[in-house]
Amino acid sequence: MPVLDWLGKEKVINHHLDVPFRFLDKKFSVGASENKIIHGDNLLALKSLLPEFAGRVKCIYIDPPYNTGNEGWIYNDAVNDPQINRWLGQVVGKEGEDLTRHDKWLCMMYPRLRLLQKLLSSDGAIFISIDDNEQANLKLICDEIFGAQNFCSCMIWKCKSGGANDVKGIACDTESILVYAKNISACQFNKDTEAQVTTNYNHMDENGRRYSLDRLDKQSLGYQPTLDFPITGTDGKIYVVEHKNPSNKVARWRWSKETVEQRYDELVFKYPYVYTKNYEKIDGAIPRNLLVEERFGRTRSGKTELAALFDKISPFAFPKPTKLIKFLLSIATDKNSIVLDSFAGSGTTAHAVINLNAQDGGNRKFILIELNDYAESITAERVKRVGGSFDFFELGAELFDDDGFINAEVSREKLFDYVYFMETHKHFSPSDEEFLLGVDDGIAYYFFDDEELNFDLLAKIRTRAAAYVIYAANCTLADSELDEFNITFKKIPRDIPKL
Ligand SMILES: C[S@@+](CC[C@H](N)C(=O)[O-])C[C@H]1O[C@@H](n2cnc3c(N)ncnc32)[C@H](O)[C@@H]1O
Repeated sequence: MPVLDWLGKEKVINHHLDVPFRFLDKKFSVGASENKIIHGDNLLALKSLLPEFAGRVKCIYIDPPYNTGNEGWIYNDAVNDPQINRWLGQVVGKEGEDLTRHDKWLCMMYPRLRLLQKLLSSDGAIFISIDDNEQANLKLICDEIFGAQNFCSCMIWKCKSGGANDVKGIACDTESILVYAKNISACQFNKDTEAQVTTNYNHMDENGRRYSLDRLDKQSLGYQPTLDFPITGTDGKIYVVEHKNPSNKVARWRWSKETVEQRYDELVFKYPYVYTKNYEKIDGAIPRNLLVEERFGRTRSGKTELAALFDKISPFAFPKPTKLIKFLLSIATDKNSIVLDSFAGSGTTAHAVINLNAQDGGNRKFILIELNDYAESITAERVKRVGGSFDFFELGAELFDDDGFINAEVSREKLFDYVYFMETHKHFSPSDEEFLLGVDDGIAYYFFDDEELNFDLLAKIRTRAAAYVIYAANCTLADSELDEFNITFKKIPRDIPKL
């Protein structure tokens, strides 16, 4: 498989593993829900989401900066955002100064896509909007990260119509949306229930179901002698494949002899042709990759929609239309799915989740991440204005300090929750036992910050359980003593689970 190389790649290829874990600090809530809007660099925020959401996100939609080289929009479209530049300097080092904008963009995207891949559920899919500036590069790194076998589609969305008469060369009216499954064999897309079908279903069966008739013989499939045989019709007549030029046979039946025998009752005989019934698909059509109809919206309609919410002036240059994102969600989610957008911009994805839930009575949840300070004034504000509920977070303290010890700034409750969640996938709730994290599946979990695990410490334990996991600074009990009480000792900070 071809693999893309670029300057700085070796520095970022495993960088997602080095990203420090930070806690998320809730700043305020609008209504009550499980939706989240996070202000901060998505690299850090995605890492923060890993303990709770790894393997749980059904649909990711992202619309990263396209790297057009045009800066000065409300967001930086190149990778020259000061925060990203600082990050590149730290990760790639001195050679980072020589990177082209494509190298920089790839360095920025690669570790973020790695984390996104971990968050996807086994039946989930990611949709990535992109234009021709980086589409080819993006495809290659996605093949590497998600697996080329998990590539589902390159959708083509008509974002513009008309205009562009002053363009030199060929005007581009489209953008791409790359679609990858976490695991193609487990990922099933829903039908497109609003697809406009051109077939004329001009027959009706005894149950009132409409259908069209498709000829069983086809000129275009390629000749095969085994698919060229006579069939006796229900009227006793003999039906044969029609060859327009018998000396150069190209036609054949679509069904084999066995299939004709097995499904004979489904055939319709109208001399000289045999037909099959093609029933109207009332639950929708297979989604297609060409998104050109008005029902997918245009960039212009995205802007108008946003302007209507912000005193007639769109605070964002190129928001996506909610119709487009709603369509993607409709084919890639069920009613209880979690949806993630880690380049949230004006919050279109949350708006689309809210609209789709309103349409089908769903209870999808969204998680948005936005780097820029307008995360509150535009992203969250838009979601609030369209009636959405959410908790708003900032990135909080790192779990470990620079020397690898537990960061003194981290509250005990957050630390306990982290350790207990990593052990059990359940949240910590305080009890009247100071050092008890919780009891799960017969195992009691304790966390004694600076203490030594010895008999005096065991005397403090009040909960009776089949087994114990005890975190402590060190342990002076012998292995046989640990075994006798069914205790697993975990050393702080060494054995605190890492991501
Ligand atoms: C093209 S815009 C997304 C527009 C969005 N789809 C909409 O409809 O409004 C890209 C967004 O990603 C944000 N962004 C860029 N780098 C980021 C990062 N490292 N972490 C989080 N957000 C980032 C930018 O600030 C910008 O708002």
